[in-house]
Formats: sequence, structure tokens, C-alpha cells
Amino acid sequence: MGILSLLLSSILLLHFPIFAICNKQQVYIVYLGEHSGDKTHREIEDTHLSYLFSIKEKEEEARASLLYSYKNSINGFAAVLEPEEASVLSGMDEVVSMFQSHPKRWSLQTTRSWEFLGVEEGEGDGKEHRTSHDEEVSNNIDEKESLLNKAKYGKDIIVGVLDSGIWPESRSFHDGGMGPVPKSWKGICQAGDSFNSSHCNRKLIGARYYLKGYEHAYGPLNSSNDYRSPRDRDGHGTHTSSTATGRRVYDASPLGGFAKGPASGGAPLARIAMYKVCWPFKDKTLAEGDICMAEDMLAAIDDAIADGVDVISISIGTKDTLKYSDDSIAIGALHAVKRNIVVSCAAGNFGPAASTLSNTAPWIITVAASSIDRDFSSPVVLGNGITIKGGSVTPYRLKNQFYPLVYAGDVVEPHVPKNSSAGQCLPGSLSPKKTKGKIVLCFRGEGLRVGKGLEVRRAGGVGFILGNSLANGNDLSIDAHLLPGTIVAAKDATTIYNYIKSHKKAMAKLIPTEVVLNTKPAPCMASFSSRGPNALEPNIIKPDITAPGLNILAAWSEASSPTKLDFDHRRVKYNFDSGTSMATPHVAAAAALVKAIQPNWSSAAIRSALVTTASTRNNLGEPITTDAGEVANPFNYGSGHLQPTRAYDPGLVYDAPTPITFSSCAVPGTKTSIETSNARRHHHQ
Ligand SMILES: *[C@@H]1O[C@H](CO)[C@@H](O)[C@H](O)[C@H]1NC(C)=O
Ligand SMILES: *[C@@H]1O[C@H](CO)[C@@H](O)[C@H](O)[C@H]1NC(C)=O
Ligand SMILES: *[C@@H]1O[C@H](CO)[C@@H](O)[C@H](O)[C@H]1NC(C)=O
Ligand SMILES: *[C@@H]1O[C@H](CO)[C@@H](O)[C@H](O)[C@H]1NC(C)=O
Repeated sequence: MGILSLLLSSILLLHFPIFAICNKQQVYIVYLGEHSGDKTHREIEDTHLSYLFSIKEKEEEARASLLYSYKNSINGFAAVLEPEEASVLSGMDEVVSMFQSHPKRWSLQTTRSWEFLGVEEGEGDGKEHRTSHDEEVSNNIDEKESLLNKAKYGKDIIVGVLDSGIWPESRSFHDGGMGPVPKSWKGICQAGDSFNSSHCNRKLIGARYYLKGYEHAYGPLNSSNDYRSPRDRDGHGTHTSSTATGRRVYDASPLGGFAKGPASGGAPLARIAMYKVCWPFKDKTLAEGDICMAEDMLAAIDDAIADGVDVISISIGTKDTLKYSDDSIAIGALHAVKRNIVVSCAAGNFGPAASTLSNTAPWIITVAASSIDRDFSSPVVLGNGITIKGGSVTPYRLKNQFYPLVYAGDVVEPHVPKNSSAGQCLPGSLSPKKTKGKIVLCFRGEGLRVGKGLEVRRAGGVGFILGNSLANGNDLSIDAHLLPGTIVAAKDATTIYNYIKSHKKAMAKLIPTEVVLNTKPAPCMASFSSRGPNALEPNIIKPDITAPGLNILAAWSEASSPTKLDFDHRRVKYNFDSGTSMATPHVAAAAALVKAIQPNWSSAAIRSALVTTASTRNNLGEPITTDAGEVANPFNYGSGHLQPTRAYDPGLVYDAPTPITFSSCAVPGTKTSIETSNARRHHHQ
């Protein structure tokens, strides 16, 4: 058998790499601009196929290569092509732009999701049940009620959300007392795994899913990891949808019972339509996350426009800088804005570095994230009597006594390299002998925040203190840890580290969480929030606005645990999460309310109203600061913090014509002047 099996295995070994090298077929998105309006869907598809017939040898092959034919508003298609075929197509006059979705990576902008290479920014799984967002913003109940009343709570407005799906049973999406579905609605409720048309109602009026691009790139969806349907396994889509439009729920209570009380989306009677475009993803290191393919997102936006949504909320971003003409969200949003649909998108979680923004197209509302005036305070008391501010929503608590305190880097197994990674409580790094019974200081950097707590628990530690790295600054991203634990700001982590290093018998106690309202100053910019300047068009200030995105509580998927870790079998109906993902639906909800009051305003007018009424001051009346305590500027927050109660009556709106095409001049001058005038206003304040 020896020779044969050797031969076979060498053939196999050779075969795979060769196959991989030969198989250079990739999905290309071919964007052709707008439809002329005189063709049926059938004729449009035939036209799209004719391009493929012209470059493929066989008709069958051409048909099989077509993933999507964009037929509604967007004219274009996505097809599997060889590079040579692609170059023939890209030379054709009608082709406005042509681009590949792979290997660019779009993902949900929660701070919890893994970065591609397992570097954090990372972790995050904040949460915060949405109390109505006006409450968070202004605390003025009268103003809020008056806005909601005027807008009839967003009654006939339809918000389309591109995300990871939705958990239809959540009480945030019940339809009790709601009127019939608006007549303008043309969408569907697409059936699939654990989801059928009965899961839609007068609240959740539409649901679809898109995964052709995903499956082409990553193979068939593994049904143990997600539902092949609009149902949300991850939790993120349920969270963003309920933030935008969740009904008022009176006893929303996440794990641990914090923040009990009424919870409501920003536009509680608006209708929701889910377009599921993000799917589970593992990188080579098997770090888990999600990915949203450009061709799938473009199909979703094309459908959303045709279905009749009024507002689109997209909590998805990318680290890659893409030209607008090669960016399927920018293209889709352009078509949406022409139909007076308002498009709110995440600025991205790639801060605090400069020029890290996603979704900077001028016709999009680019949303940054900031804190709210609520703390989940769980301080640390050191043996020397110093009390340090901390935050947590862990359901576990320690006895009110001092425990030995150690730095993770001092209690690692002998095999762990002695560098800064050693202090990060990475899986398998801690020595149970040295950790047992102690509180451990772990630094952020790589890996999931909750994963670090888990490692301390594995090694027998009784609790842990999660120290922000310098890049995390003062953001206290709270988590439902699996043991007693709290997170502290970067400078406080250094104080604790120095205390440990200078005391032989360092001790600490962790004070159980107490919810503190009306904390000041608020808002502060979140360190993770992506910053300007706008790498593509420096003349246009981006982001446009900031909204609550730190420790936001909203509905969650019951197929997922609050930490999203597989072995965590806890289930919650409401959960905290953080990210520009969470800020984006706040702005979408505010746009829905303005649209309800001013139905004839264009998308540009609504964007203007939201942006010009934003505030650059915090609740002390002082300039909004960054998480590091510096005065923030338009590269952090655009025009400032969302104030929906002012937006429906802004005094003045800058309208703008919709840009016609990408081909010659993508950026109309009027838009430029809007943005720069806003920026100037802030510089002078
Ligand atoms: C949808 O699924 C539910 C079970 O989840 C079932 O009770 C119901 O009859 C189904 N409805 C339709 C229209 O198939
Ligand atoms: C699907 O996912 C499960 C759980 O993550 C895993 O055990 C299984 O091997 C996967 N199946 C395939 C075909 O990859
Ligand atoms: C620490 O050392 C290990 C092993 O040499 C290496 O993989 C890791 O990147 C290092 N970490 C840092 C922060 O230098
Ligand atoms: C919106 O426009 C329609 C048609 O022009 C008009 O009938 C209606 O009064 C307008 N609504 C508002 C609130 O201005």
C-alpha cells in the first residue's frame, strides 16, 4: 500500500493548491447606473444576461454565473467572473463602475465583534436597554412627549434595517393596537429556517435575507451557526431594530436586573422591515465575527427601495477606504436618497485614530457614537483606601471584603512569553496555582473582554479588573461577565498596576453595580468611534452627527447568550451593546419622527434638520469632550450630538439636489457648502 498511498497523497497535496490557483473566479459587481423605467423585470434580467453571454462561452455558464440582477432602482448585476472576463466588461461604455466584494470586509459595527486578525476593538458587548432616546438626549419628558405626539410615534413610517436578522418573538416587536400596514408597503415576509409569514405582523411588516454572495465566498451556511432565514441568531439585528422602532416594554430587564423599567425604541409605532445581510464568519485564527457581502447588501437596498421604506438604517462598516463608485452602500444609498429615503449609516468603530471613517458618501448620514448619562457603577477599592471608578453589569458579586490582588502578567504559566501580551488574560495563559482565590488585573488588547474574565475564572480567580489600554481611554464598556468583574479607564488601570507593583500584599474589593442616572459630563465621545478627516473628500466634514452608542440596552436574540460565547447558555431578552452600530438606529429613529411630521421634506432636508440642530455642548453646558477629556471637534462628532426634539422645527433647512451620477462629478457643490458651513459654525463656537 505504501507506494500507492504515497502517490495518492502527493497527488492530493498537489491537487488542492493547483485547484486554488486556477480558480480565480470572483464575484464582481457591475454597476450600470439607473434603469430607464421602460423595461420589465424580465427584460432587465435578459439585458444583464446579454453582457454575460457576450463574455462566457456557454449560455448555461453565463446563466449560472449571475448571482443577482438588480432590477428595481439600481441597475447592475453581480456575477462570477474570471479576471479576463471582468476586464472585458469593465471596458464597456455602459459600465459606470465595477468592483469585487472579496476580500474587502464589511462587518457589523458593534465593539464586540472581532477584528479580522483577532486584534481587539474588538470585544464590546455593551448594552443598554433603550429607554426612548430623547430621554437620554435631553431628559426633558415634556419635549419628548410633544415630539412623539406630533410625530404620532412614527405611526406610518417604515424603517428598513440591514443587519443580522431579527428575533420576531421579542416583545419590542409586538403589534398590539397598531393599525393596518401602510398601503404603500410592497415588501414581503420571506420564509426560511424557523421563520415563516406568520412571524411578520403589523409591527414587523417585512423580512428578507440575502446570502448568495456570502455562500459563494465561504461555502454553504452552516445551519448550526445561523438561520437560513431572516431570523437573528447573533442578537445585533434585534438590538438595532428595537433601538430604532421597538415598542414600549415596561419590564425590560437584562441579565442581573439592571436598568429595569420601561424601554422603548425612538419611533415606537414606526414599522420595521429587516433585510438580513450579515452572516457568521471565522477567520484563519478561528476568531468569530460576522461579514456582510457587498453584493448581498446592494440587493437588499434595491429591494428596500422598491418595498417602500422611508428610512434605511445600516450599522455596517469597513476598514477599507472605498471610492463611492466601488462602495455598494454608497451606491445603494444614492438610489435611496433619490427616492427621498433617509439613509443612516455607522461611522465605524476604528477610532480613535484619524481618518478611519466608513460610509462617508455626502448623501449618507454618517453616525458617530458617544456615551449617555447613565453609569453602571462598580468601583474598585484598593487596600490603600483609594477608590477607583469602574463599570459592570455582571450578575455575580463578591463578598464585601478585601481579596489578594495580582497583575495577570505576574501569574502566568511559565510558557507564556514575558511581554505585554502576558498581562491580557488570553486563553490558557494563567497559572491556576498562582491565581486561585485572587482578583486579577487584566489589560485589554487582544481577545474578547468577556473571554479574559473567563480565563480568570478558569484559573480559579474570584474576580477581575479589566484595564483599558491607552487606545480605549475612558470608555467603560460594560459586559455581562461570567464572574465578578469591573472595567476601569486606562489611567486608572495604570494606578492599579503601580499599586500592585509597589505593595507586597496588594488587596482589593469590588463594589457591586449600582445604576447611576444623570451622570455628568455626558455625552462624551466614545474612543472606538471612527474619526475624520474624510479620507475621500476632505472638504466634506464627516461624521455628520453623534448619537448614543455606549452601553445601549435593547432587545436581543434568544438564540444567543449575552456574551455570544458558545458555552454561555444564559439567555436574555434584553442586552447591552456598544458601537456606532447602536448610534445609527438612534438617528434613523429621529429621521423617522421628523419624516412623520414633515412628510414632504427631502432626504437632504431631513439630514440637514438633524445635523443643524445637533448640540456641541454636554449636560454641563460645556463643549463635548473626547473620552480622553479633550475638547471634541467636528472630526469626532460632525455637527454635534443628536437632539431629535429640536429637529422637526430647525428654523432653516439646507435642501440639496440629488446627485445625478457617479461618472463625472460625484459630489455636488451644494452638499459641500452645507457641510463646510456647519463645520465653520462649530469652529467659531
Ligand atoms: C409558521 O410557523 C409556526 C411555528 O413556528 C406555525 O405554528 C405556523 O402555523 C406557521 N405558519 C405558516 C403560515 O406556515
Ligand atoms: C458547523 O458548525 C458546528 C458548530 O460550530 C461545527 O461543529 C460543525 O463541524 C460545522 N459543520 C461544518 C460542515 O462545517
Ligand atoms: C509576545 O510574545 C509572543 C511570542 O513571542 C508574540 O506572539 C506576541 O506578539 C508578543 N506580544 C507583544 C505585545 O509583543
Ligand atoms: C405634502 O404634499 C402634499 C401634496 O403636495 C400636500 O397635499 C400636503 O398638504 C403636504 N403636507 C404637508 C405636511 O406639508
